[in-house]
Amino acid sequence: MSYIVGAACVGCKDTKCVEVCPVDCFFEGPDMLYIDPDECIDCALCEPECPVEAIFSEDEVPSNQIAFIEINAKGAELYRDANIVETKEPMAHESPYSIEEAIEITLID
Ligand code: SF4
Ligand code: F3S
Repeated sequence: MSYIVGAACVGCKDTKCVEVCPVDCFFEGPDMLYIDPDECIDCALCEPECPVEAIFSEDEVPSNQIAFIEINAKGAELYRDANIVETKEPMAHESPYSIEEAIEITLID
């Protein structure tokens, strides 16, 4: 299992989550961060760090955000060269998108 970054991260990218990850498994795309499901050790440290509650345990992802399980796996692969381990300036205080829009923006073919 893994932790999953969901819709609230899209267009927000607060990035506080990355500092606590003991295995450095966050990767940065243009609109959101992705957790590599093969590297995540399920420690749960990142979940409370996110101020917009974008992070879920894989078995607790809300039904309307299930697409993000695949989005995280694909994003972590696509943005392999963009490992992020230090917090930086957020894009915004919160995501400007609906969940549907967030999925559309981040869906990787
Ligand atoms: Fe990293 Fe732990 Fe979060 Fe997985 S659950 S992404 S290992 S901080
Ligand atoms: Fe995104 Fe929350 Fe991390 S908004 S970058 S999952 S702290």
